[in-house]
Formats: sequence, structure tokens, C-alpha cells
Amino acid sequence: MRKKIVAGNWKMNTNFQEGIELAKSVADKYTDTKDGQEVVVFPPYLHLSAVVEELKGSKVTIGAQNCHTELKGAYTGEISAGMLQSIGMQYCLVGHSERRAYFFEDDHELTQKLKQLLNSSIQPIFCCGESLEDRKEGSYLEVIEQQLELLWAFSETEFSQMVIAYEPVWAIGTGETATAEQAQEIHAFIRTLIREKMGAALAENTSILYGGSCKPSNANELFGKDDVDGGLIGGAALNADDFLAIVKALN
Ligand code: PGA
Repeated sequence: MRKKIVAGNWKMNTNFQEGIELAKSVADKYTDTKDGQEVVVFPPYLHLSAVVEELKGSKVTIGAQNCHTELKGAYTGEISAGMLQSIGMQYCLVGHSERRAYFFEDDHELTQKLKQLLNSSIQPIFCCGESLEDRKEGSYLEVIEQQLELLWAFSETEFSQMVIAYEPVWAIGTGETATAEQAQEIHAFIRTLIREKMGAALAENTSILYGGSCKPSNANELFGKDDVDGGLIGGAALNADDFLAIVKALN
């Protein structure tokens, strides 16, 4: 059975004190835990160690929003997968559309990051998603297929550690959500690709999350679809009650 996951990407939000408060609030309020279900928060780097402490004894897990392509060296200002491993990170985002767009991350860089994370026993959440233009042109399936292409170079064992998040760029932070049917179409497409490239067992076991203006009012419908295994939440993850209302929709 594949895992159901709700992941909260805080992006560059919350100062240190606010971040600790938010983590504490999520941990305190997440009491209705279920087997096969995981709740993960992705605070900014600065907060990670303190949030690890805050989450001790709770069922909430933690990941980082980014890592560098190299393990160590003269890369001023950067953080490596090995460093993240040393403070207990379980997950890390790779390929978020904001990093692709604002930091020009390309397939080579994303592949390097995936390798570093897998070597450090951190599970990557690999993000993909088409722009509004791609959607309007009707080329969105090809775009998704292209973005996923780099994953097929990994071994089945490596791939088994990965989670995929489908995040249409036009839905991120815009208030405009993909309909549950639009999400299901892409999720089923992604699962078919995994089946073709990696086999039926991995297709069945890979969690595919939806992201893009997911909120308490639409999470039920989205998570009700067969191939939607949870969500990657931005804005609504900054409020513990909203975030946990979305978690409830997993049931
Ligand atoms: P959003 O962000 O929920 O604010 O649209 C989602 C994401 O970027 O992961």
C-alpha cells in the first residue's frame, strides 16, 4: 500500500519564533494519526534543527526545501544533503517550479541533487508541473513526460525512495486549483509512465501528491481521486488549523 502524505512547504515564510510556534502547533494538534499516513513540514533551513527538537515525540516528520548538488566544499552559502542528514531530515523537495524558474535549475542539477539525497538516505519529493501556456496549448502531458524523463535513469531501488508531486504552475499561489478531474488525469498519466519505465509494483507503490492552491475546501475532492495520494501545500500550510483540516481530508 502506498503512503498517503500531506506535506507543508513553508517557502521563505515565518521568522524563527513564528516557525517554532507553527511547528509546535501542528505537532500538538495532529493527534488523529492513522497508519499509512504521513504529515511532513518543510520549514526554511534556519529553523530545521529547532523544529526537529520541537517535533520529538510527535508523529509529524520533517524535510528541507532544497539542497546543493555537491556534498561539501567551497560553495558559500549552500547546504548539502549530508548536512541535512546529520540533523535528521527525512525528505527534501527537488525541482519545485519556483526553483526551476527563479534559480534556473535544470535537469542536470536536479539529477545531481537527487543523487546526493539518495546517497544521504533522504527521500526526495520530485516536483513537476506545466505552465499556463503549456496547458492552453494542450502540450501539458508532453511537458510532464519530459520533466520526469531524468527519473528513469535511476535504479528501481533508488526510485522506490522517491515521492512525486504534480504542481501545475498556474495553480501555485494563485488561488486557482486544478479540478479533481484535471489532477486525476495527470496523476494517472504519471502512474502509467512509472509502470512502463519502472514496472507495475513501483507504479502501485509510488505516492503522487497534488500541489497548487490546495486548501481545506477542495482537499476532500482532490484526495478522493484514485491516483491522488495527498498534497504538497504552500499557503495553507502556514496556518496549523488549515493544514490539519487538509490532513483530515486524507481519510
Ligand atoms: P500553494 O503552493 O499551496 O500556495 O499554491 C504549493 C506549492 O508551491 O508547493
